[in-house]
Amino acid sequence: RTVAVVLAGGTGTRLGLGIPKQLLKIAGKPIIEHTLAVFEAAPEIDEIIVLMATGHVEDARQIVEKAGLRKVTKVIEGGDTRNATTRIALDAVGPQDCNILFHDAVRPLLSGRIVRECVNALWSYDAVDVAIPSADTIIQVDDNDCITDIPVRSRLRRGQTPQAFRSPTIREAYRIAEDDPDFAATDDCGVVLRYLPGTPIKVIDGSDENIKVTHPVDVHLADKLFQLAAAQAPRLTDHRSYTEELTGRTIVVFGG
Ligand code: CTP
Repeated sequence: RTVAVVLAGGTGTRLGLGIPKQLLKIAGKPIIEHTLAVFEAAPEIDEIIVLMATGHVEDARQIVEKAGLRKVTKVIEGGDTRNATTRIALDAVGPQDCNILFHDAVRPLLSGRIVRECVNALWSYDAVDVAIPSADTIIQVDDNDCITDIPVRSRLRRGQTPQAFRSPTIREAYRIAEDDPDFAATDDCGVVLRYLPGTPIKVIDGSDENIKVTHPVDVHLADKLFQLAAAQAPRLTDHRSYTEELTGRTIVVFGG
């Protein structure tokens, strides 16, 4: 059994909309609905669990119901931090061994190819990350914003999600982390790297489109990327065009 966990427990302070950004409509649908639709359509995924921001669980349930997403078995409240949300998700998945993919709800342009490659990699690895090469040089700085290191770019990647695990591995990593008073928030592969050192974490290729809607500019970028995707898949949108209010401006997406 393979479970997709959609992490939507955040409130999107950097976007600053007054509603959690996963509820913002882009290309006619709330961001989280686009994300859920990718997993619903992926043959490798058997079940979807949604962890939603406090006060918005009912919103998420309505989205799931209206969109007829049949793989979604639970919509529950997330935690105060991303790691707290992951812990709640691990309980919600249940004790049986399975594959778990954790994905940011605010990466709605995830592709079926990435989902497939993550699940396939779990045949050979206990932990899988998704990343892309960095076009920019990454520099390390100290507290005074002075450079302390410039790591070799060819060895650097920018992490995305999903992050995929065989359930015993991620459970064990979080169990050990629980006893660490210095536990610092990190992504889920970071928890495995730190608390189960030596576990190979396979990295598969992400994509430039798999952006995390974080800052206002990302809303416009995601909007454009959906338009591009619609243009490339005319069969889905031939008969349809729509207008949506998007952060005060009207966008029109024409299919076909
Ligand atoms: N997330 C979560 N639970 C939290 C915090 C974050 O499930 N307590 C999720 C977010 O909903 C998002 C993903 O983790 O889908 C990536 O986090 P980020 O982009 O940082 O989202 P926010 O925390 O909502 O944004 P911000 O940091 O700007 O407040």
